[in-house]
Amino acid sequence: MSKLIIDGCRSLSGSVSVNGAKNSVLPILAATLINAGENIIHNCPDLKDVDSAINILHHLGCKVRREGKTVIVDSSTITRYDIPDNLMREMRSSVIFLGPVLARCGKSSMSFPGGCELGPRPIDLHIDAVKKLGADVMESGGKLECTAGKMTGKDIMLSFPSVGATENIILLATACHGRTRIKNAAQEPEIDDLIAFVNKAGGMVARRGSEIEIIGTQTRENTEHKIMPDRIETATYMCMGAAVGGDIEIKNTCPHHVETITEALTQAGCEIVAGTDFIRLKRDKILGSTKPVRTMPYPGFPTDAQAPLMAAMLKARGSTIFLETIFENRYRHVNELMRMGADIKVAGRVAVVEGVTKLFGTKVRVTDLRGGAAMCIAAMSALGRSEIEDVFHIDRGYEKIENVINALGGKAIRE
Ligand code: EPZ
Repeated sequence: MSKLIIDGCRSLSGSVSVNGAKNSVLPILAATLINAGENIIHNCPDLKDVDSAINILHHLGCKVRREGKTVIVDSSTITRYDIPDNLMREMRSSVIFLGPVLARCGKSSMSFPGGCELGPRPIDLHIDAVKKLGADVMESGGKLECTAGKMTGKDIMLSFPSVGATENIILLATACHGRTRIKNAAQEPEIDDLIAFVNKAGGMVARRGSEIEIIGTQTRENTEHKIMPDRIETATYMCMGAAVGGDIEIKNTCPHHVETITEALTQAGCEIVAGTDFIRLKRDKILGSTKPVRTMPYPGFPTDAQAPLMAAMLKARGSTIFLETIFENRYRHVNELMRMGADIKVAGRVAVVEGVTKLFGTKVRVTDLRGGAAMCIAAMSALGRSEIEDVFHIDRGYEKIENVINALGGKAIRE
């Protein structure tokens, strides 16, 4: 298992380019199943989760090849509709294949996606919607077997704007007769990237605020699509600049998607300039605390940026309060940050960070993807050397994070 050795530094100076969004490319790779044709997808990040999604496409019978940052998926021939446990377990979000496999094959069989480091990850909203659209769903022994009946578009009200459930409903509804309307649909930008892709593939999908309308169609087209920039990667690098101080530039991104992070870091004392596709962040004085951070569905503060922002606030003057409303157990990085000298108190979904004057490099173990990013950020702003173990968690969502740290003026090596 590789580890990262990071030497804390005084200030950053440099620029970095953002990759395509992990949480957009994963549903879009699954969506390539619906057009039974060729799909050329540009700006694909080189991540473990992308490899896992490609493994599933291969297993189902697709021909997939990668040419640099472009992935070409030929989904003309699908030979099976089952996804085995080992492939389901490689990536928690494999459930996103439920809708497109059922739409394409009329059947789908997969194991229940396991819980993950963030707590239980129920899929009741996915299952209720699939049943409502006309499929028969059998759940037994950890297996989920779905069989399409007379698939007919329906109005579906989501009790929670679930990202994955919204994506699965869109993809299944492309193969249903008539109109499906999703009410209280997720509004994350990655959903709109998926909608753009599905419409290129022959779908008819339109968003009106928190409502998404899908008209089932027979037409299917080959596609060419460029994945949107990764807003959580952008937020992570902003938090690196805020935590360590200095002057950094983050390129090929969409500043509009990270306005809640910009607001929090500006309030804490960073100078942030947002261009059309870049962000310039300067921090040359001690950070102050920021108003309470409450994670919410988009356009609220993203839960995936909670750990990175917490790491940025560890040495801020005063206290910063976090309220994690999306996941049950998303403070597993706190104990590791406290080993570096952070002062954090957790009570249920609330975490209170009291700023300290110094953090100290030490050995820490990554618990989950965004928690691992937080540990890198804390190590960059600590005195001395840190060893960060179980880096594979970080590789699920960041492309060689050590290269980014070094490009920004930090010091990191992978062993
Ligand atoms: C997506 O997960 C993202 N993953 C997550 O990013 C992100 O944190 C999350 O959306 C919220 O923005 C991908 O896009 C691959 P949800 P997803 O369905 O679809 C509950 C990262 O670090 N829920 O919106 O699984 C669920 O328990 C990852 O990149 C139900 O109760 O998120 C959770 O509390 C982590 N029943 C909440 O909704 C359901 O049927 C959010 O889940 C589905 C979800």
